Amino acid sequence: MTGSRIVGSGSALPQRIVTNNELAERVDTSDEWIIERTGIRQRHIAGAGETTATLATAAARAALADAGLKAGDIDLIVLATATPDNTFPATATKVQHALGCKNGPAFDVGAVCSGFLYALTTADSLLATGSANRALVIGAETFSRILDWEDRTTCVLFGDGAGAVVLEAPDAANPAKAGGPGVLASRLHADGAQHDLLYVDGGPSSTQTVGHLRMKGPEVFRHAVVNLSSVLKEVIEDADVSASDIDWIVPHQANKRILDATARKLGIPDEKVVVTVDKHANTSAASVPLAFDVARKDGRIKAGDLVMFEAMGGGFTWGASLVRM
Ligand code: COA
Repeated sequence: MTGSRIVGSGSALPQRIVTNNELAERVDTSDEWIIERTGIRQRHIAGAGETTATLATAAARAALADAGLKAGDIDLIVLATATPDNTFPATATKVQHALGCKNGPAFDVGAVCSGFLYALTTADSLLATGSANRALVIGAETFSRILDWEDRTTCVLFGDGAGAVVLEAPDAANPAKAGGPGVLASRLHADGAQHDLLYVDGGPSSTQTVGHLRMKGPEVFRHAVVNLSSVLKEVIEDADVSASDIDWIVPHQANKRILDATARKLGIPDEKVVVTVDKHANTSAASVPLAFDVARKDGRIKAGDLVMFEAMGGGFTWGASLVRM
């Protein structure tokens, strides 16, 4: 039991919206195919001057404002991304500088679409040990910059964006395990044997290029449903709750069919699943905190609710966290 509390959230999306019909002018696809196979209707795409760091900074500012805090109150920044502004330094340090804070470490976590779960669990663990008091946990991506825009099997699936939460050290007087707010349980997994099903065919040490995203979609789909159902069961068991106690599932937004199949396997009704894939498409590490912020700001997720975060991504990596708000 680690128990850090989410005290604020924020998100940011690029201004430009690209519809399925616009993509159908570039590659051999259609609005009907994309909606039927994925649930995606549109995505936001970063324009000139918009980068992973600028989106992350905007989301972080919104999260700080939501929490009623200042940048100086933060002493840890963990940023999940697979599309950093530069190979180094970490995009987290750019965000730290843009926010104007200097307390404590700032680093990136690379777990692709599961990045937010990895970042949240890392920050939660550091807060629980007393290494820091208040963290910004950010997922931010500009996947549009690593897509092969001629490959219809991948370019229609992704979008850009950022989401952030402010995480505070556990409250010893009102711990999550006794019904207070906080992280109740988290599990992370990885299986490097599945590298070739979802990867980028470039990198500084291998090709000295940035590369493009490559994916065997149907195989990823099958693994996603199996791995996500299994990690959700583990976390439910670790937290000693039952699936029916969960108020909201905030899943990684890859494909509406994966969301539906995973929830169905656990017997969780569709109304409890937060869905943003129709508007944002797959924003990788940003998708979970983005969806969480949308559902908090529109009043669905409230204080006291039990919220499950879950994601799977390239590696493969996957994980889930159960949090009492
Ligand atoms: N527009 C139109 N047709 C397309 C298309 C597109 N954008 N992309 C693929 N097709 C075609 C295929 O070529 C194939 O044609 P064929 O039958 O003539 O060979 C047909 O549509 C079916 O393709 P298939 O790949 O079997 O479809 P699918 O139902 O599995 O859906 C995905 C494809 C990618 C949407 C789906 O597999 C998926 O979402 N996978 C998981 C991806 C994911 O979640 N990735 C991120 C994890 S973090």
